[in-house]
Amino acid sequence: MLNIDSLSKSYGKKTILDELSFSIEQGEIVGLVGENGAGKSTLLKTLATLQLPTMGTITLDGMSYGTQRKTVRKNIGFVPQEIAIWDEFTVEENMVFFEKLSWKKKNNTQLKQLCLDMNLEKWKDPVKTLSGGMKRKLNLAISLIHDPTLLLLDEPTVGIDLKSRKEIGNYLKNQAINNGRTILYTSHDMDEIIHLCDRVLCIGNDPFYQEILKDAEKDVIIM
Ligand SMILES: Nc1ncnc2c1ncn2[C@@H]1O[C@H](COP(=O)(O)OP(=O)(O)OP(=O)(O)O)[C@@H](O)[C@H]1O
Ligand SMILES: [Mg+2]
Repeated sequence: MLNIDSLSKSYGKKTILDELSFSIEQGEIVGLVGENGAGKSTLLKTLATLQLPTMGTITLDGMSYGTQRKTVRKNIGFVPQEIAIWDEFTVEENMVFFEKLSWKKKNNTQLKQLCLDMNLEKWKDPVKTLSGGMKRKLNLAISLIHDPTLLLLDEPTVGIDLKSRKEIGNYLKNQAINNGRTILYTSHDMDEIIHLCDRVLCIGNDPFYQEILKDAEKDVIIM
């Protein structure tokens, strides 16, 4: 379980996140929505331990982000908004490279299977020859190498065709249901959010999102 209590984050004098409190249960898929600049990536980066909160406490399965940061980090998979992979390397070389950095070991068959699970079959192809959607799938596969319990995904499906989006969606659902992974992810595709998520967190008071989510009868937390 991920527990966030009175979390605030400021950049200089500008407060982006203002005393957010919420919990996410293990195995839940939660969507994070809000207009451009609302603070979605700021929240995900903070939860991914890539930046410190200004105030507040966060725990993952009882582990404190303040005092057990390294252990917490071992249990997190993060896909940043900007694709972060090696363009000159093949899919295989990228997977092997990131496996070397991972604290949990996987052999080549297991690494390849992670890609195949997402219908990413171009194992020997240089990343620079892949489509944007395939690169996103690879970024997602990399984030899963160490079997994280918490997956934080920043727009994992942006710019992806409908078929690949559905594949990624089904994959994430399977990860939550069968592997008990807790997933928090952002998207500007409200249909996808409504279809995939158990609950939705909305940053900011934008009535636009609230109207759509009210119609969808989703459990929504406004922050
Ligand atoms: N490192 C930083 N230093 C200063 N300000 C920042 C920094 N990172 C983000 N911001 C500001 O914080 C605000 C929230 O940005 P953030 O990227 O979290 O929004 P977002 O909800 O992810 O937006 P988008 O939908 O466009 O991805 C923006 O005003 C942004 O300019
Ligand atoms: Mg963002």
